[in-house]
Amino acid sequence: MSRVYNFSAGPSCLPEEVLKECAAEMLDYNGTGQSVMEMSHRSKAYEPIIQDAEAMVRKLMKVPENYKILFVQGGGSTQFAMVAENLGIHTGKAAYIETGVWAKKAAQEAAKLGIEVTTIASSKDKNYSYIPKVEKIEGDYDYAYICFNNTIMGTHYEYIPETGNIPLVADISSCVLSEELDVSKFGLLFAGAQKNLAPAGVTLVIIREDLITETPRAGTPTMLTYKTHADNGSMYNTPPCYTIYVLDKVLHWIEKNGGAAGINKLNVEKADYLYNFLDNSDFYHATAEKGSRSLMNVPFLTKYSDHAADDEAAAAKEKEINDKFVKEATAAGLVNLKGHRLVGGMRASIYNAMTLDGVKALVEFMKKFAAENK
Ligand SMILES: Cc1ncc(COP(=O)(O)O)c(C=O)c1O
Repeated sequence: MSRVYNFSAGPSCLPEEVLKECAAEMLDYNGTGQSVMEMSHRSKAYEPIIQDAEAMVRKLMKVPENYKILFVQGGGSTQFAMVAENLGIHTGKAAYIETGVWAKKAAQEAAKLGIEVTTIASSKDKNYSYIPKVEKIEGDYDYAYICFNNTIMGTHYEYIPETGNIPLVADISSCVLSEELDVSKFGLLFAGAQKNLAPAGVTLVIIREDLITETPRAGTPTMLTYKTHADNGSMYNTPPCYTIYVLDKVLHWIEKNGGAAGINKLNVEKADYLYNFLDNSDFYHATAEKGSRSLMNVPFLTKYSDHAADDEAAAAKEKEINDKFVKEATAAGLVNLKGHRLVGGMRASIYNAMTLDGVKALVEFMKKFAAENK
């Protein structure tokens, strides 16, 4: 079978050349006669891999010296708790901007752990289709929290809120290394790897050293304490070795493609191609507002969605069209385009590893589908 174009929101497509390299090394990594899957994480062969991965993150993201780079487990969702446990330790108060499911879940987790959460802005009024403008955050908060790219809603911050002395925490799970980012503006960044960096299994954390506390909130488990991982080079326990090995290869692939700036140029080209098509179509439209649009996740609806909210027959027709779209796209080798139920319609996730050819193939299919279903 030939390979498909995979528009999954995560886990998602990986660069083909990385997959080929992994395949070539599967049975014998670097003359060791073993797969990286089988190796001790403390072996001479493995240690350079995790060290290189860390050095590559530092290089590609221009991470300042006073930040630690950690590889932890538990996905983005575990970070919702770790951030609260480790940073919510002075006033016990935190500010959250609610821009969709993932920001909300993070706030709920913090509240569950006893943090006094203030939702300082929300875009719930328009089903999270935009990013609220909060240029300045002030108050006695231990930290301020944003979800920089909202995977489900397809929105992305086009600015970084000014927080003065309040550490700014950002979930960059679905936009990490898709663009240049000034790490020094943040106290902590985290990203589940399974969208832009690697298969599922590892979470990248970049944390300013002064936020690595010896004394997180009472009862915080050892594994949920950043210091545990910082003091042990992300090797306090067995790390997700193979995932980190793939991550390292993906980072080298990003470097070969011009680093964050080079990759961003390609991402802008891909996203512009798709949004231009959507904005000029009388059959489809993008759901995210201009000025808040993600380069990575592009949800879109058809004209059949127009009256679906208050008309049962229209809703049934919309569902029929959406199902048909996804089915026919799959048959054409364009997979995982079903939209999230909170937005409906379709969603094309066009992460770093998606090629411009893939986006062009999607647009060609969309044109044909529109003509056949007017
Ligand atoms: C922006 C964002 N944050 C957090 C998560 C949760 O990540 P995980 O499944 O790794 O816990 C996701 C998952 O898709 C996400 O898109």
